[in-house]
Amino acid sequence: MALRNIVLEGDPILRKKCRPVEKVDDKIRMILDDMVDTMHDASGVGLAAPQIGMLRRMFVVSTEPDEIYYVINPEIIETEGEQEGEEGCLSVPNYSGTVSRPQRIKIKALDRNGEEQIIEAEDFLAVAMCHEYDHLDGILYIDKAEDVHEIVMEEE
Ligand code: NI
Repeated sequence: MALRNIVLEGDPILRKKCRPVEKVDDKIRMILDDMVDTMHDASGVGLAAPQIGMLRRMFVVSTEPDEIYYVINPEIIETEGEQEGEEGCLSVPNYSGTVSRPQRIKIKALDRNGEEQIIEAEDFLAVAMCHEYDHLDGILYIDKAEDVHEIVMEEE
């Protein structure tokens, strides 16, 4: 297990368009595992490769304990409905904002074995998938939210 440094907003790397993963090999799987460790360590529910400085089209999402999605070269092939929810981002610490996202999405992607998978996500899982997908095109949720605000920690 290895933790990677999370790239923070303001770094131009987060604004680049990522390139597809050419081959899902052990090196890619090792990076994905590091991304999961880094995400869990930071108490996040998703992390995209550019957030650890890798300009590749892949991300990990885990909105439920014991459920991890490894999403490589994703394509959103269907969207349905709309929902508004609060989002944050490990690259924009201590801020939050409301973003409108599809209620349901269907994603075609490769899994960690390089096999094609179809992911059907709704509610918060759809939000997380869309948020991470945007990272691959250099888009941050703060570009879409109108009410980005600092999270005020309550002092004891
Ligand atoms: Ni993010």
